[in-house]
Amino acid sequence: MLELSIVVPSFNERDNIRELISRLDAVLAGIRWEVIYVDDDSPDGTSDLVRSIAREDSRVRCLHRIGRRGLSRAVVEGVLASSAPSIVVMDADLQHDETLLPRMLAKVREDKLDFVVASRYCEGGSVGEWDNKRAAMSRFATYLAKLVVASPLTDPMSGFFLVQREAFDRAVRRLSGEGYKILLDLFASSPTPPRYAELPFVFRERFAGESKLDSAVLWQYIMLILDKRFGHILPPRLILFSLVGGSGLFVHFLILFLAFRVGNVPFAVGQIVATLAAMTSNYVLNNFLTYRDRRLRGMHFFTGLLSFYLVCGVGAVGNVGVANMIFNRQQEWWLAGLAGVVVGTVWNYVASAMFTWKKS
Ligand code: GDD
Ligand code: MN
Repeated sequence: MLELSIVVPSFNERDNIRELISRLDAVLAGIRWEVIYVDDDSPDGTSDLVRSIAREDSRVRCLHRIGRRGLSRAVVEGVLASSAPSIVVMDADLQHDETLLPRMLAKVREDKLDFVVASRYCEGGSVGEWDNKRAAMSRFATYLAKLVVASPLTDPMSGFFLVQREAFDRAVRRLSGEGYKILLDLFASSPTPPRYAELPFVFRERFAGESKLDSAVLWQYIMLILDKRFGHILPPRLILFSLVGGSGLFVHFLILFLAFRVGNVPFAVGQIVATLAAMTSNYVLNNFLTYRDRRLRGMHFFTGLLSFYLVCGVGAVGNVGVANMIFNRQQEWWLAGLAGVVVGTVWNYVASAMFTWKKS
């Protein structure tokens, strides 16, 4: 009977493949296991190498994805393609201590758990040599994680854990899938708090190749947190879009004050300049934050800005129109004003998603 499936997401990890498989072979003696590499069409030929090993070793398989990237979803597909009752997710680069595997499996069975998480931050674990910036970012991310999961995980960012298939199946249809924090996503998507234990490990240096995590990862992480915390009420992008809109209000009044009160320009001119400034700063912030994954650059930055002006112009007409209509019926100035702002914001959000930051 197959006891353990190991799911390894990989992107350009060719020089780590043989080493990991031979270490698995050594450490898992006496256990029936399989390993599934989920490779996103790595240019370095990772898939070819895995397949050539798989031809001689039926415990090894390759799930080759084309036209897709993303650590979390790769892991999900790997788990779905595997068959054992227990699944370990680990990185391809040997940073995760494979000698922990037999203990993880024993622990989950003895204590009838859903998860065993290999943690760098519980007693006995460590991140090894990390610069201050990365350590601080990791601490901040751990802090944010507490907003979405009740379980006091010491290392919710860990990419190294064991999950029982039933626990995975209970969460899989609710997963956000965004980004690379699959463990956090699984915990936050479980219908009841999972039963889990943590085992410490020391995060090693990469064996070969280089890290794939960049600044986009932090952004995806924030989107995951927003989605898990408020996604049932509002889409994460609309939340960011509205926050940016709020900052635009501040910009507007600052510029209007400077132009009209300090600079003594006519009010109408001040108002026009303030409006343009607020739209521009909203555009820049949304381009940087809300649509970071579709960021417009170069020429597209300017055509995008123009389309954003147009969208907001129409939004402003709708805003004033709705506000007037309600005011004429209700005479409730703040209600009318609020309704105008909501209609304008939703319009700006929907229309700019369709025209300015359209999916390519
Ligand atoms: N299929 C697929 N697709 N695999 C990917 C992708 C992708 O888009 N991006 C990265 N991977 C694979 C890498 O090949 C590697 O096996 C694993 O995912 C982790 O990527 P690394 O680039 O090595 O990440 P890291 O070492 O900087 O980050 C590790 O630490 C984080 C916490 O600080 C990982 O373990 C993360 O999961 C962990 O959260
Ligand atoms: Mn790594």
